[in-house]
Amino acid sequence: MATSTALPRTLPASWYTSKPLYQLERRAVFLKSWYLLGPTIKFSPGEPVSYEFAGVSLTVTATETDESGASELTVVEDNGSLLRTHTTATGLLFTTISATASSFEDFFPGLEDILAKVDFTARPYRRSIQYEGHFNWKTMVDGYQECLHCQYTHPAFSVLYPPTFYAVQNHHTWCQHFADPKKPEDGLFLYFLPGCTLNVYGGGMSLFRVCPTADPGTTRMEFDYFNVDNGEKFEEYYKFVRQVAQEDYELCEVAQYNLERGVYAEGVLNPVKENGVAYYQQRVLEMVLEQHQEDQQTRKAAAVIVAIGQQASHAEGRGERSFTDRPIRPEIRVQ
Ligand SMILES: [Fe+2]
Repeated sequence: MATSTALPRTLPASWYTSKPLYQLERRAVFLKSWYLLGPTIKFSPGEPVSYEFAGVSLTVTATETDESGASELTVVEDNGSLLRTHTTATGLLFTTISATASSFEDFFPGLEDILAKVDFTARPYRRSIQYEGHFNWKTMVDGYQECLHCQYTHPAFSVLYPPTFYAVQNHHTWCQHFADPKKPEDGLFLYFLPGCTLNVYGGGMSLFRVCPTADPGTTRMEFDYFNVDNGEKFEEYYKFVRQVAQEDYELCEVAQYNLERGVYAEGVLNPVKENGVAYYQQRVLEMVLEQHQEDQQTRKAAAVIVAIGQQASHAEGRGERSFTDRPIRPEIRVQ
């Protein structure tokens, strides 16, 4: 049997700069996805937390259910509708942002088994930070999904996690990263399509969300930090992780600058070292194509409805019976 030796290709540069394409991505990918909001310990009664994903604003509210301090979490969109959520056995809260998303299990098959290995409520919430960057959401995800850039962009990080060992395992709509594949239990690094990540190592845990805006060249970055340490020890950890995030931010702005000026149009990906990028880009492409087909069918159906309406009104104009006058059941002739 012949095997294909074709290398995976990147999405074209226009996908990083086009407003209509983002609107298509919004319906195809963002409205159909699940989002990691955080570990349940982030949410306390009387302290609602707000989020915004692809133009959908929502609020997480914790309500005390009994005197033991247990609370129930609800996620409500700003228009008042209750959103579907999923809380994992080990304490992570996920949400949808529209009714078009599938079930959690269908969207992230097999994920619960991996999450069951870590108690996400064990590291107290310490700090959040958010800011906007001049890059497309995929520019940031491209960087997260590979570590070829690590050696020259993150010199301090590369000492701790030598990129020679780095590997990404792709699952359906989520990916697991291994800093050293020989030590698979060393930390937990996950990417959830389209824009959430979870990074657990030792006593520290960070989440970040890559939130698109209506301008495809602007993305809001949101980070949450959790750590068993407080005070000076936490500040040391924070300084290190912020340094890595700042280095990524600068790299993304330069990459976007090149994309917007035609320096880069399209290319091939390394099938081993960039398998994470190839996977998520392919998934985005598939979802966008599915949406495009759905849109075309809807447009065709709409055109048929309009044509029937026009025929009916012409018929009425000629004094004929209109479509709506016709009996639903066919008439039966009796001989
Ligand atoms: Fe990076």
